[in-house]
Amino acid sequence: MTSGALAGRVAVVTGASSGIGAAVASALAEAGVSVTLGARREDRLRDEVDAITAAGGRASFRVTDVTRRADVEALVEAAREHHGPVDILVCNAGVMPLSPLAEGRVGDWERMVDVNVKGVLYGIAAVLPEMVERRSGHLVTIGSVAGRRPFPGGTVYSATKFAVRSLVAGLQLELSSTAGIRVTDVQPGVVDTELADHIPDPDRRAEFLSRWEARRALRAEDVAAAVLHAVTAPPHVNVNEILLRPTDQPT
Ligand SMILES: NC(=O)c1ccc[n+]([C@@H]2O[C@H](COP(=O)([O-])OP(=O)(O)OC[C@H]3O[C@@H](n4cnc5c(N)ncnc54)[C@H](OP(=O)(O)O)[C@@H]3O)[C@@H](O)[C@H]2O)c1
Repeated sequence: MTSGALAGRVAVVTGASSGIGAAVASALAEAGVSVTLGARREDRLRDEVDAITAAGGRASFRVTDVTRRADVEALVEAAREHHGPVDILVCNAGVMPLSPLAEGRVGDWERMVDVNVKGVLYGIAAVLPEMVERRSGHLVTIGSVAGRRPFPGGTVYSATKFAVRSLVAGLQLELSSTAGIRVTDVQPGVVDTELADHIPDPDRRAEFLSRWEARRALRAEDVAAAVLHAVTAPPHVNVNEILLRPTDQPT
């Protein structure tokens, strides 16, 4: 464990049972942060926490569905009880069941709004009053390059990531000068994770995955390094946005 700028800090990471969230939790723990992981799959959370503690880090987990406000509040409360007030919240949980709007998969649209937008809002609501009171804290969202530019079949997903980017911009306006709270929206391009596994149409999923595989995707650890860059910046530096793409990805 390092004894650097983050030693002794407390973080909560949503969607930490796989992919980017798991990599962020592990990187934060490596930097000396006490981390509480939230997601729905208990077995995967337990494995991640075991791996972190085996490496000498401090971590706990709580099964959390971010579409339920009470679950998100309980996740933050569990972090407080185990480790202390939350210094860093990483709102990472997300889903991407892509389909063209004309297919009218309204249930998938609702799920993306519930997880990718309302889940982030519930996280903000759970930590912000205490951060304002302490005049300290860092809110990190995992947005997407899709939050800057829609793509066919990804219109609703993209809209949720535009919303996240807008929330972070608004938080920056409302909070930075008065409360000293930092905000960062990390916007990755293609990352090699399980995210595309839930695209509902099998042919579309296969086509999407083959496009991904043709590129050298980012690894979840590359995104975790971007998060670490933002949260380890000196206190007077507010890294508001980080856009990172694979070198092979033009847009
Ligand atoms: N992969 C990419 O190319 C890419 C690019 C840009 C942005 N992103 C963003 O990165 C974030 C992480 O995705 P990933 O790529 O790492 O994919 P992933 O491996 O599928 O991770 C998604 C995470 O979100 C969690 N999750 C989904 N629904 C949830 C819910 N209702 N409550 C709590 N947790 C929930 C999942 O855990 P459970 O299933 O256990 O709940 C999982 O841990 C997402 O916000 C995604 O939009 C990904």
